[in-house]
Amino acid sequence: MKDLREKVAVITGGASGIGRAMAESFRDAGMNVVIADVEAVALERTASELGVHHVQVDVTKEEQVAALAEEVRTRFGTCHLLCNNAGVGGGGMLHELSMRDWKWVIDVNLWGVVHGLQSFLPMLLGNADGGHVVNTASMAGLSPLPGAAPYAATKYAVVGISETMREELRESQVGVSVLCPGFVKTNIFTSQRNRPEELRNERKKTSARVANEDMIRLVNETAIDPRDVAAKVLAAVENDEFWIITHPDLLEPYRLRNRELHGPC
Ligand SMILES: NC(=O)c1ccc[n+]([C@@H]2O[C@H](COP(=O)([O-])OP(=O)(O)OC[C@H]3O[C@@H](n4cnc5c(N)ncnc54)[C@H](O)[C@@H]3O)[C@@H](O)[C@H]2O)c1
Repeated sequence: MKDLREKVAVITGGASGIGRAMAESFRDAGMNVVIADVEAVALERTASELGVHHVQVDVTKEEQVAALAEEVRTRFGTCHLLCNNAGVGGGGMLHELSMRDWKWVIDVNLWGVVHGLQSFLPMLLGNADGGHVVNTASMAGLSPLPGAAPYAATKYAVVGISETMREELRESQVGVSVLCPGFVKTNIFTSQRNRPEELRNERKKTSARVANEDMIRLVNETAIDPRDVAAKVLAAVENDEFWIITHPDLLEPYRLRNRELHGPC
């Protein structure tokens, strides 16, 4: 989409981190921006600081995402840019994970994206002036992240959905991008703040603590500002680029995996 002015963007997980930075950058590009998030206080604060619209939505609930789409249609007529960005990071070694760990992460990171596509994609396809979808995956959707299997499972899935969409929508006016960030300075490490009571664990895992410490070290060394991510997203939407890679220097494990797949040659 070349001319973003007056077009409508919807960003899930828009109250914080990467979603918030995208909202700011789309607003500055002249778009009407709607941020949707489960965290009421942060959502209202961000909306009022940025001067954008907001709707409280839990992306794990199909009916709430459908209601969001209806509200956007009623208020703005349509949506042009959907950013399926809401996500949580949950860790722990596989042998220690509970079913609740799996369920929570899959509900938000995978079902949240599916709900967004179900409710919004027909609207985008109906636009005379086109549309674009940005799905937020992760570098952990391209190569393994030990200590975060549920997270990796959902992010590989989001990459898979996005690559499939790209093929399906090739002849349409709707573009697709998949955002695969490395570490970004956001509130992802306090994702538990939004974990529903019924999906909380009864006792703490030891491995989660270890994995988290390793990750925090990696974050401190490589994390970038969410506004730098948002600038790349804006450029990808304007230039219809599929892959949005924020840390190309971290692609080596991905290259290694591809070399392994090719076999010795
Ligand atoms: N920060 C990183 O290093 C990093 C790296 C790779 C990918 N990502 C991805 O980026 C996306 C944004 O995360 P972030 O880093 O900005 O973290 P963040 O915690 O700052 O923002 C995530 C937002 O999602 C919202 N959210 C959580 N559960 C929700 C639900 N059920 N319904 C609606 N909203 C919900 C949170 O309230 C929050 O506002 C996520 O998909 C995450 O997996 C982040």
